[in-house]
Amino acid sequence: MSTYRIAPSILSADFARLGDEVKNVVAAGADIIHFDVMDNHYVPNLTIGPLVCEAIRPHVQVPIDVHLMVKPVDRIIPDFAKAGANIISFHPEASEHIDRTLQLIHDHGCKAGLVFNPATPLHYLEHVMDKLDLILIMSVNPGFGGQSFINQALKKIAAVRQMIDASGREIMLEVDGGVKVENIADVARAGADTFVAGSAIFGKPDYKAVIDAMRQQLAQV
Ligand code: DX5
Ligand code: ZN
Repeated sequence: MSTYRIAPSILSADFARLGDEVKNVVAAGADIIHFDVMDNHYVPNLTIGPLVCEAIRPHVQVPIDVHLMVKPVDRIIPDFAKAGANIISFHPEASEHIDRTLQLIHDHGCKAGLVFNPATPLHYLEHVMDKLDLILIMSVNPGFGGQSFINQALKKIAAVRQMIDASGREIMLEVDGGVKVENIADVARAGADTFVAGSAIFGKPDYKAVIDAMRQQLAQV
């Protein structure tokens, strides 16, 4: 049985009180902080950059997982590494040279992840499996929090789980978009071990109650 990790996405946090929000969610049991970076170019929304990562870094003792939804990606990677990111992932469509971008992330001392949109084929994995620390399957189209989980993602998660197991490597399998207490067990059964949840956690008054309820669901998988 794998270790499950819950990764609240601060996209749905109250940005006017971000320091307190991240402290509270870590105190509530978050294993990872998921940090969504959007550029109004690769995705139709604009969020936060390295300065904000640097600002929250002293307030969180858990890894910061930077999900880059930006194009191009390479120029901003060193800035996030310097700002304290632990994991940096990007979308293959946003990089001209995927292998080089993965190397760049490792060269800057971070774990590297590749992100697959609902309609992005998995074939990239055949060529870069040995360079990945994380595979992120999008269960919504990227750009906004609060969207509904696309059920098609479950098949894709199962396919990736098989590929990871066959590789014999330790690669995190993360799922992002529309994950909540009601469906987290299905996502885990499909093979995921790391669960991003934005609106399901930050949209609720008691973060610990939601995270505990998620863990309870996971305990039954
Ligand atoms: C979407 C982001 C997600 C998003 C998840 O582009 O990558 O991380 O914040 O939000 P929920 O959990 O509300 O779907
Ligand atoms: Zn994300």
